[in-house]
Amino acid sequence: MLNRLRAKLLSLSFKSIRRVVIGIFARWPKDLERAIIIGDTVNHLLMISPLRYFFKFRIPSSIDTKLYDLSFPSPLIAASFKDDISSLIQWQLVGLGGMTYKTVLKRPSEGNQRPRIQEIKYDRRYGLINSLGLPTKGVKYFIDNFENRKLLSFNRPIGISIGGNSIEEYLEVFNMINSRVQDSSFNQFFYELNISCPNTEDGKCLSDDMEGLRMLLDKMRKSCLNVIVVKVSPDSTQENMFKVCETLVSVDRCAINLGNTKYITAESVGLDKKTFSKDGGGLSGVGLFDMTSRNVELVASNFDIPIIATGGISTYEDVISVLGKGATLVGMASQLVIDPFQVPQINSKLSNEN
Ligand SMILES: Cc1cc2nc3c(=O)[nH]c(=O)nc-3n(C[C@H](O)[C@H](O)[C@H](O)COP(=O)(O)O)c2cc1C
Repeated sequence: MLNRLRAKLLSLSFKSIRRVVIGIFARWPKDLERAIIIGDTVNHLLMISPLRYFFKFRIPSSIDTKLYDLSFPSPLIAASFKDDISSLIQWQLVGLGGMTYKTVLKRPSEGNQRPRIQEIKYDRRYGLINSLGLPTKGVKYFIDNFENRKLLSFNRPIGISIGGNSIEEYLEVFNMINSRVQDSSFNQFFYELNISCPNTEDGKCLSDDMEGLRMLLDKMRKSCLNVIVVKVSPDSTQENMFKVCETLVSVDRCAINLGNTKYITAESVGLDKKTFSKDGGGLSGVGLFDMTSRNVELVASNFDIPIIATGGISTYEDVISVLGKGATLVGMASQLVIDPFQVPQINSKLSNEN
């Protein structure tokens, strides 16, 4: 009861402070990234101070779930979108059952030019559009830093998301990371293949190349027993999504993540064409929920494969709905930046359900 009240108060304060920071720092010129950088800095200071314990919520024991042999104390996990360690620590403290690192590419990349992330409103609620273009510090930096002591101390599963511009690049990144993962004493890493990569020079990506995906999965499976998740885009056709599922059911210990951001133009959501350095970007947040829910239902009724439902999940009702339709885990990105204190409130409601 007290914890629920604390979560609600923190929720209200977080949302109000966030609005003030966005109002002041992201208005002229319009660029949400400035507010994000300020928010991350403040959060970092909080996370290295004793005040971090104020963010700590116990996960009720009755809501744990399994993905093969990986044990998640809550079905809520952080989708792959952030590699800032302090943010990841904050989300573990509020009660996520696990997390996924932001996609790693072979070489460091700055991503697209700013502005490249903006906030939009649907149905009087907030969502995001980003055309970040996968900024990454590259695989060499990643392998020196992914075994972060504080993150590992939560002892919850950690996903490593891999991207690439070709099969060879995916494999190279995987092999470099995997040699460290196999030597690690932490045994709860899983892999996620981000196959909706927007950076390929010829506009093609792994989601169009089932033979390539199959070959990559076979090679990964020969090198490790870790769970492998494939994350598909809501821009994929149903036929394509089903082909990915057919491939996954034939490889051991695989799961599907439905899904990623959805491409839209800035103009189609009422933004000025020039609010972005590109014409559009990936939509995330509440506007994706109906599609996520429909895709979970479609895959669960046609394939025997574990599902992570990602896209537009923001409330207890959303979580219950996708779990009821057959999802094992629920990925969250936008809601974690809009209000991370929804997590303990959802966990608490889930435990009353059990
Ligand atoms: C700022 C931002 C960066 C993201 N970066 C990645 C990424 O590196 N890899 C990936 O697979 N998905 C990435 N995503 C997609 C999210 O993981 C998630 O699939 C998507 O945002 C839908 O979930 P949501 O509606 O809860 O935000 C990103 C999303 C956002 C908003």
